[in-house]
Amino acid sequence: MKDFLIAPSILSADFARLGEEVDNVLAAGADMVHFDVMDNHYVPNLTIGPMVCKALRDYGVKAPIDVHLMVKPVDRIIGDFIDAGASYITFHPEASEHIDRSLQMIKASGCKAGLVFNPATRLDHLEYVIDKVDMVLLMSVNPGFGGQKFIPQTLNKIRQARQLIDASGLDIRLEIDGGVSTSNIREIAEAGADTFVAGSAIFNAPDYKAVIDTMRTELSQ
Ligand code: DX5
Ligand code: ZN
Repeated sequence: MKDFLIAPSILSADFARLGEEVDNVLAAGADMVHFDVMDNHYVPNLTIGPMVCKALRDYGVKAPIDVHLMVKPVDRIIGDFIDAGASYITFHPEASEHIDRSLQMIKASGCKAGLVFNPATRLDHLEYVIDKVDMVLLMSVNPGFGGQKFIPQTLNKIRQARQLIDASGLDIRLEIDGGVSTSNIREIAEAGADTFVAGSAIFNAPDYKAVIDTMRTELSQ
């Protein structure tokens, strides 16, 4: 079986009990924690920053933390997330003046770096920096909120991104974010994704393990 990773987005967790929520979702079988950073400028919502990432590390979270920056300009905050214990740091090309430099900044720290593409953003940038990318994150909703509906056109884009990654011969994860659920995860994987963000599908359910187990069963079909 392919090496599939499930990354619950804590955007849909209960922030008042965040440490416990993260413990619970990891105990339920999650592979990493997806950490959505929104600045009320690049996206119309305001969430959590490096202090919360550090707080989770101090609390004892050992799993990879997958930091998705929806922040513009992005460079100023990258260093803070490196110091806060991020494992992956991904950003949107529109949010950086110098995409190559931002990627280099992340890589130089030892963190893994990635680019995030909105539903209507072309994959073109990837061609020039693919050697500096550990992850390609495709948004399957417009960024800003959890609980939105998966945009079906993303499936074609996943196939395109999969071709680019395979042609590069590089070890790059292909992550999908937005509207992922037990009912569409299999076709998303069939299109070429290997890493799945799911917020509301997991945290709005009464039993996190049941959802993650069903996702894994779907992925093993
Ligand atoms: C949206 C965020 C997503 C979001 C996913 O901007 O990047 O990570 O939390 O939530 P669901 O899985 O509910 O679509
Ligand atoms: Zn996200």
